Amino acid sequence: MKKIVDEIKACTKCELCKTATNKVIGRGSFSPKILFVGEAPGAEEDMQGKPFVGRSGMLLENWIEILGLTVNDYAITNVLKCRPPENRDPAPEEIRACLPFLKQQIKLLSPEVIVPLGKFAMQTILNDYEKTISEAVAQSFEVEGVKVFPLFHPAYYLRQGKTGENAELKKLKGFLLDGKEQLEEFIINIQTCDNLSTDEMFSPILSAVHHFCKLSNTTFKDLDQKELC
Ligand code: URA
Repeated sequence: MKKIVDEIKACTKCELCKTATNKVIGRGSFSPKILFVGEAPGAEEDMQGKPFVGRSGMLLENWIEILGLTVNDYAITNVLKCRPPENRDPAPEEIRACLPFLKQQIKLLSPEVIVPLGKFAMQTILNDYEKTISEAVAQSFEVEGVKVFPLFHPAYYLRQGKTGENAELKKLKGFLLDGKEQLEEFIINIQTCDNLSTDEMFSPILSAVHHFCKLSNTTFKDLDQKELC
């Protein structure tokens, strides 16, 4: 990790290094379950040299709490390590120049799930610059064996005054739980309804199984190893 930190600090591959106060490399666990990837440092991040420490960062911290993650569970970085002047959008050549650092970080941190925040992070991680964030948000993908689950950028919610839980975050929560805990709770609820017939009990369980299999990209087999979904 020290090598890549030194490389990023010394980087002059694009013009952004000339105006950046600090390179913003990352923060969090060195063996995270989840890696959040934002777009680029803003003013506060540029000053402190840490990602997501401004207003968007406060909302991200709130999400992390809602997801029930502890400090060892997650890490945070950005596509660009230098702040674009006036927080303008990252230019394609800046993303190209910085991408090897992000790839190295992903390799070293080896997260189970990457959560790109916003369009630029999603397009960069999925290597699909045609995809819109609305097409990709709250859906699961896989890139080189790592699960990817894009969300809208926290700034998007802040612009709408939404600071609590949102539908996309709920889906991420279900995805991270693998559906198992929610399914268990659901089955217990159904089992305690003793006035239901077998059919009435079984069909909602099966539809819940379908739902959670889809959400968590898993398959479900019956006792004869026949795939139910
Ligand atoms: N927005 C980002 O995308 N990254 C940060 O670090 C802060 C705000």
